Amino acid sequence: MPESTKQAKILAVTCLSGGSGKTTTSLNLAIMLSSKGKTLAVDFDPQGNLSQWMGWRDLSESATIAETILPGSDRLDIKEIIKKPNNEEREGLELAPADYSLSGAGEVIAPNPGRERFLKRALKSVLGDYDYIVIDTPPAKGILTYNAILAADYVVIPTECTNKGVMGVINTITLIRELEEIDFIVPKILGVIPVRDQWSGANQTRMSKAAIETLSEVLKEISLFSSVRHSTIVQQANNAGWSLAEMGKQSLATAYTEVVNTVINI
Ligand SMILES: Nc1ncnc2c1ncn2[C@@H]1O[C@H](COP(=O)(O)OP(=O)(O)OP(=O)(O)O)[C@@H](O)[C@H]1O
Ligand SMILES: [Mg+2]
Repeated sequence: MPESTKQAKILAVTCLSGGSGKTTTSLNLAIMLSSKGKTLAVDFDPQGNLSQWMGWRDLSESATIAETILPGSDRLDIKEIIKKPNNEEREGLELAPADYSLSGAGEVIAPNPGRERFLKRALKSVLGDYDYIVIDTPPAKGILTYNAILAADYVVIPTECTNKGVMGVINTITLIRELEEIDFIVPKILGVIPVRDQWSGANQTRMSKAAIETLSEVLKEISLFSSVRHSTIVQQANNAGWSLAEMGKQSLATAYTEVVNTVINI
């Protein structure tokens, strides 16, 4: 067998704000990247939304990502927990699923040296198997979020078009800078995606407009991708485990296409 020449590019989707579109962005990017190369979607949020949207609503009989980050001999190789999406036949897309047990795993790893890098260690054994790895992350500061960020080469930050969303972006960028200041090797921030951009007919709402303007002022050298408009189609797509492009909504997915093009051309 020829040795694999793959070396996965790892992208974390993160924002220190709940409901900011992280899982929606992860799902869309993972599906779109899987048409460019073999892709692993890593659910690293105890809420397990990405796993649920990829058809895995009950993981009680399955090993999950939680078992791959444990210290000591209890740890499983990530290859043992990887699944195919359970609701759609998909060439080239696989899932490392999560459920609430990930929360307990976070508590177990917390007292251990190197605790911020256990996901990075877990992913090592599959770097040669995938072209792209997309990590969905929890909404708050904590050991799981640090693990997701420090496992990644690149980060994208989705945010709601609100003041709360803008604060979430600032807090996320600050966290990454703080990790860098204490000598962690941090991922490159590819950019920020404003999501749920609200329009009423031909007019963008004042709240969305103000949030996007504030973002473009505060981000400086960090890219601002196109916005994703608010649409009820998004929820339908998520529940079916489909990308917006697969729903025939390419125009809604412009930002995701921009991220994919950035990642494949790095
Ligand atoms: N562009 C959009 N238009 C309408 N609804 C959207 C859009 N993007 C995401 N949503 C919906 O908003 C909700 C939050 O999105 P999502 O779950 O992706 O955010 P999250 O950041 O992962 O949340 P959490 O912090 O809880 O993990 C979901 O119900 C999702 O379907
Ligand atoms: Mg989520």
